[in-house]
Amino acid sequence: MPKSLPHFRELLANDWQPRNDPSTALRESHTASVEEIRSHFPILKRQIHGKPLCFLDNGASAQKPQAVIDALTRCYSHEYANIHRGVYRLSEDATAAYEAARQTVADFINAKQPQEIVFTRNATEAINLIAHSYGRTICKSGDAVIISQMEHHSNIIPWQMLRDSLGIELRIAPISDDGQLMMEEYRNLLDERVQLVAITHVSNVLGTVTPVQEIIAAAHNVGAKTMIDGSQAAVHMPVDVQALDADFYVFTGHKIYGPSGIGVLYAKNDLLHTMPPFLGGGDMIESVSFERAIWAEPPSKFEAGTPPIAEAAGLKAALDYVSSVGFEWIIDHEKTLLEAATERLKMIPGLTIQGQAPHKASVVSFTLDGAHPSDIATLADLDAVAIRSGHHCAEPLMTRLGLAGTVRASFALYNSMAEVETLGRAIEKAQKMLRA
Ligand code: ALA
Repeated sequence: MPKSLPHFRELLANDWQPRNDPSTALRESHTASVEEIRSHFPILKRQIHGKPLCFLDNGASAQKPQAVIDALTRCYSHEYANIHRGVYRLSEDATAAYEAARQTVADFINAKQPQEIVFTRNATEAINLIAHSYGRTICKSGDAVIISQMEHHSNIIPWQMLRDSLGIELRIAPISDDGQLMMEEYRNLLDERVQLVAITHVSNVLGTVTPVQEIIAAAHNVGAKTMIDGSQAAVHMPVDVQALDADFYVFTGHKIYGPSGIGVLYAKNDLLHTMPPFLGGGDMIESVSFERAIWAEPPSKFEAGTPPIAEAAGLKAALDYVSSVGFEWIIDHEKTLLEAATERLKMIPGLTIQGQAPHKASVVSFTLDGAHPSDIATLADLDAVAIRSGHHCAEPLMTRLGLAGTVRASFALYNSMAEVETLGRAIEKAQKMLRA
């Protein structure tokens, strides 16, 4: 675990280096300094408005290391053909590469077998797949699904659609003022009518890490299944779906340094076997006549049409990259950034940090007295600081917090302590300009 954080100013003065000795491949071939990691991401050399890019909108989408860009280029330059269809060499090689990516994903989240990994377009599609396939099969009028007050719209709307078509109840687990899931209230919502608990692992707005293991165990006690939205989590911490005993776990490629256009649905094998397909088309069938079709075995049953072939190669490269850096180093580094950013932003008069749960990923949301979040983000952009503003696709959470929106800085493994200071100065400058 990370050691305690030295004072922020001290860190800035001491030309900060990672405190934990990375124990992975990077230690052998690199010094694992942030500068070295930054050099793997070509876009970080860009200037915006004549200033070095300070990219702090990683919660929306992360930048890509050269290894991912190379994997995409290699796929299209040397290895590309449609998969699962051709008997010729190139198609067989492309199929093998695609299935190797599935194995890498399975290993990354410790799934029992690669057949439990379904590639989707993104996490949103994965959640919709669960709602339409599992939800429609299992839920009947009078049943209930539990979500929380801090869900992204992608984990609200599919369940509202299910509610409106099947007559199920949508129960909302509340959060406390500091952004924690209220566990007792959550437990009180659980009864035998609950078919599914669908909750985020990390809030995209507040950074709160939810106690997923407890959430899942409590749901299982009443016979409910669980879907964990790991879109904001898988990039920051190791995920072990077997240890969690998650029934479903979803995440997206583009937030974990991989390409856009690919998402991951993990589901326990027995569930995938009982679930009907979500989309129909080529590659998801054993045989078809005009009278009937026989579905292919999972995961093919859920991958209709030409899948994200190059994107899978890119995602494999991204997960290999993250593994080569190692979560020990990532957690330590990002915790340092989070604590330093929180402390630096708190120095600004009139600034309120939104979301102060004790266990947070490296996401800091804040509001500034008398300033509109989008004005702050627009002015910060003049200093090449890329941060997100608004409701962050979580309008019900904004209503709960009594806010129209927040400004959000979300950190990745390549962000530096110098960028924390750049953020602080940009917000102070924006505040001055808005007051003038
Ligand atoms: N879900 C992404 C975010 O939080 C887009 O910004």
